[in-house]
Amino acid sequence: MAYYETDKIVAEYLLFHYGTSAEQLSSFTGVIHPPGVLNFPVRCITETLGLSPSGGCALDLGCAVGRSTFEFARLGMEAVGIDFSLSFIQAAERLRIEGFIKTKRLIEGDIEEEITVRLPEGVPTDRVRFIQGDAMQPPADIGVFDAVLMANLIDRLSDPLRCLRHLPSLVKPGGKLVITSPYTWLDEFTPREKWLGGFYRNNTPVHTLDGLRNTLQPAFECVKVVNLPFMIREHARKYQWSVAEASVWLRR
Ligand SMILES: C[S@@+](CC[C@H](N)C(=O)[O-])C[C@H]1O[C@@H](n2cnc3c(N)ncnc32)[C@H](O)[C@@H]1O
Repeated sequence: MAYYETDKIVAEYLLFHYGTSAEQLSSFTGVIHPPGVLNFPVRCITETLGLSPSGGCALDLGCAVGRSTFEFARLGMEAVGIDFSLSFIQAAERLRIEGFIKTKRLIEGDIEEEITVRLPEGVPTDRVRFIQGDAMQPPADIGVFDAVLMANLIDRLSDPLRCLRHLPSLVKPGGKLVITSPYTWLDEFTPREKWLGGFYRNNTPVHTLDGLRNTLQPAFECVKVVNLPFMIREHARKYQWSVAEASVWLRR
């Protein structure tokens, strides 16, 4: 089964996007977590675009279980979330319609605990649409957006360049594109020859931000780069702590 279709990963992402801090962090005495790691799907928007309530429309490419898509709607935008994983889209759609979903939080081995995660208050769900689709081949009639978010997607695509080439036609002139990623390039997701960075060329390191600049300019100008830490809980005693780099691009 594809990685992002499994029950285990759906549960991890529901917790990552919607879990309370108590549900996401461990409660072991004396354990200190890295600071500032919670609410990543919200910070992807607020710490990059800083949108105040406004109209317009936003696209969340690789939306997973949908939290950032809902946050765009909470900011007054029409929001579309696209993800390749049908299981993720079904979970996001269930949250949109029912406002909650029962899921499991892994404790240890086969031991797990049932939890219910909920849509945050104040999401106008009629302004949100989820589509199962491919970010490397977005639907032709998807439209043009004021804001496009690609959170931790590029290093999970088989051909990231194919996705980036669609971006000039997806973002309105004057609109913004946000790309966040910890740049965890892995052969099992992206064949090495398709990596945007993280390799040497003529003995010189090529970083992913350079690869993004080379591809996105001149249609986009990089206007901001920030670090966004996040943490995904696997089980009570195992967490993935990552620091994504978020770059903000203005469509010329
Ligand atoms: C690391 S997760 C990030 C999810 C979410 N944006 C976040 O920040 O929590 C990568 C996501 O990309 C999605 N994905 C992978 N390949 C895709 C493709 N070709 N088109 C759309 N989504 C894709 C996966 O299903 C998964 O939801």
